[in-house]
Amino acid sequence: MKLKHLVFAIPLFLAGAAYAQSPIVIKFSHVVADDTPKGKGAMKFKELAEKATNGKVKVEVYPNSTLYKDKEELDALQLGAVQMLAPSLAKFGPLGVKQFEAFDIPYIFPSREVLRRVTQGPVGKDLFKKLEPKGIVGLAYWDNGFKDMTANKPLHHPSDFRGLKMRIQSSKVLDAQFRALGANPQVMAFSEVYQALQTGVVDGTENTPSNIYTQKTHEVQSDMTVSEHGYIGYAVIVNKKFWEGLPADVRGQLEGAMKEATDYTNKIAEKENQDALEAIKKSGKTKVYVLTDAEKAEWRKALLPVRKEVEGRVGKEVLDAVDKESAAAGVK
Ligand code: LMR
Repeated sequence: MKLKHLVFAIPLFLAGAAYAQSPIVIKFSHVVADDTPKGKGAMKFKELAEKATNGKVKVEVYPNSTLYKDKEELDALQLGAVQMLAPSLAKFGPLGVKQFEAFDIPYIFPSREVLRRVTQGPVGKDLFKKLEPKGIVGLAYWDNGFKDMTANKPLHHPSDFRGLKMRIQSSKVLDAQFRALGANPQVMAFSEVYQALQTGVVDGTENTPSNIYTQKTHEVQSDMTVSEHGYIGYAVIVNKKFWEGLPADVRGQLEGAMKEATDYTNKIAEKENQDALEAIKKSGKTKVYVLTDAEKAEWRKALLPVRKEVEGRVGKEVLDAVDKESAAAGVK
């Protein structure tokens, strides 16, 4: 080969080698802290995916809304600016997939077992199918846990909520829930909640102990009520074009990693929340109150009409599956 050809050949050869070695990058954006069920699940997926693909895939996890806030992250996924997210099921309404909001209905799940049977059964798959026309593929359901209430006053009875401005996720069911309690719900991105509570833009909120603790909500709220009135869980989703464009062997390895990361997350979620509740109590920064059975019955009674009210919006599919699985588990 003449020298002048060699000069051209070398950079091309190097460029080819660099291309062959550059990994496929999955940007996994989420809004909570690393030290939560979702944060840990994302890190576990990174570890397993990179190992299973022998470094062909690199997973970059961006926690704490460092890349995008709630609504922005869904736009970014659809545009392909990020490849993977795990938004809470309460946040799919603005995409037009309202059926996920059924999971927000207060007291709808009598147990985790029933919840699991619904998400892992045909309904869980069917809900994922509804995402496909939006350019999204659903991969897994991840748990967080059951929600409690916080405010700057004790919340023992439904009437204690009257007139309070309560932050909610972007779910019409959560809107109906707080209206049923006589409160004024306000949709707000998760990353803005701490400051909104601190400055009094809103009076209170609801979340899982894990989210309350890691966001330091308990430091800006004088009272917390352990009510476990509703559920927060996630759909792990990917950009459809990206996912379907992956080499089949790589996609299979990632599916395996996701399955393992899902088992891990769903195994640790309950304990993570128990530990967070203990840590909140220990901090001494907020008064933690556990509802009595009689008070719980009052809350249930006040919140019962929500299901009827939102049935038309969320459809019967999830509700029927919950009823069926509850009956099968002998709890209703
Ligand atoms: C919230 O906005 O309160 C939660 O959905 C945050 C999360 O991702 O757990």
